[in-house]
Amino acid sequence: MEDEVKKLTDVKKLSVNGKSSRFPGFYKLDLSYRLDLLEQWYPLTTNEKWMLKRETLTPELADIMVENAIGVFGLPLGIAVNLKLNNKDYIVPMAVEESSVIAALSNSARLIRDHGKLTAKATDPIMFSQVQLVNVKDPEKAKNRILRKKKDLLRVANEQDPVLVKLGGGAKDIEVRIIDSLSGPMVIVHIIVDCRDAMGANAVNTMAETLAPLLEELVKGEAICKIVSNLSDRRLVRVKMELEVDCLARAGFSGEEAAERIIKAYHFADADPYRAATHNKGVMNGIDPILIATGNDWRAGEAGVHAYAARSGQYKPVSKFYREKSGKLIGEMEIPMALGIVGGVTSIHPGVKILLKLMKVKNSKQLSELAAAAGLLQNFTAVWTLATEGIQKGHMTLHARNVAVFAGAIGEMAVKVANQMAHEGRVRYDRAKQILKHLLVRETQEEENKDK
Ligand code: MEV
Repeated sequence: MEDEVKKLTDVKKLSVNGKSSRFPGFYKLDLSYRLDLLEQWYPLTTNEKWMLKRETLTPELADIMVENAIGVFGLPLGIAVNLKLNNKDYIVPMAVEESSVIAALSNSARLIRDHGKLTAKATDPIMFSQVQLVNVKDPEKAKNRILRKKKDLLRVANEQDPVLVKLGGGAKDIEVRIIDSLSGPMVIVHIIVDCRDAMGANAVNTMAETLAPLLEELVKGEAICKIVSNLSDRRLVRVKMELEVDCLARAGFSGEEAAERIIKAYHFADADPYRAATHNKGVMNGIDPILIATGNDWRAGEAGVHAYAARSGQYKPVSKFYREKSGKLIGEMEIPMALGIVGGVTSIHPGVKILLKLMKVKNSKQLSELAAAAGLLQNFTAVWTLATEGIQKGHMTLHARNVAVFAGAIGEMAVKVANQMAHEGRVRYDRAKQILKHLLVRETQEEENKDK
């Protein structure tokens, strides 16, 4: 313990003024120490620390947020440290039940920090809603009629959200598509909106519902769906990681060999949708926990990324890995990321408000860049592990702790039971029970011997 306290002092020196997200040994600290340490990064009040530890959402607020509320559901909340993106330090809150996700991000962030570079760039926060028009006699004529009235339609759309317009956002364009469907041709109107720091679904949905009767009148047709598209392919993030390959040496493979195996693993995902789905799941492992912790709609994020992955007609991996001329391993990814830091849950969930402050993100673009970067690093770590030592070893150690706790072990005892099971390669509830019993008997005997 003395060692840990010393380490804590060292960390305080290292993270002075909260400028560096490099928190050596963060994972070894006691949960309360970690919270204390975060104060170095951002001045948390005692109440905020208490909330993060105990209750970020009250049942009373939950009752306002959803129907038929009966309580609040908990998830582990952790902080991934060490991340440097676009030459700026970040810490990353993640709400997630899967062990190894937070460690994977912290470790890969450290690796890139020491041996590479991570950059990301988000496009402007452009979303769009769709108005579906059916029973239109002449779709081409209808299209022209709508486009001729574009200016008026945009004015009406923008009247719905003067605040957004004042902030530089608002409806910017109207596009019209004619599509063939099971029930014949349809005229589909896209209302293109700059949503600034909001996710934007509410804004674009309101605009679509307001314009729908005007569009019906214009084309003498009938509007059915008026809703945001979650394939937000104008709100993209491009992220790139560069890494010296020497640091990839692992499990008996040299750095060179590991890099080549990572690339082959990517080629497998590129050729096979069955593998691509799991590859992309690894990406979302890094993204969803951030979306949850920041009050963003992670179902929308999932829908967008998977639809984007299938845009060529075949479901593909959203990231790719290759070697650069210099020999460096390069990872690249382009995905839609429609995230907000204002409005919706971000404005009412007390935990989200604290976590957004901790992240120090200034706008929705920065949050999107951060989430995408976390997705690429998570994916890289998974593929690197798969391509070298295999996933089960690390997973099993962490999974073993859960099994040990489930079997009744607590504290130090849970760690001992887990280590034993991982060592044997047998992580099972019945085995955890046996080991626990054996260790308890041995401890009792040792206590008795001491007393004699
Ligand atoms: C597990 O949650 C994620 C992985 O399956 C991702 C992958 O296979 O690339 C390890």
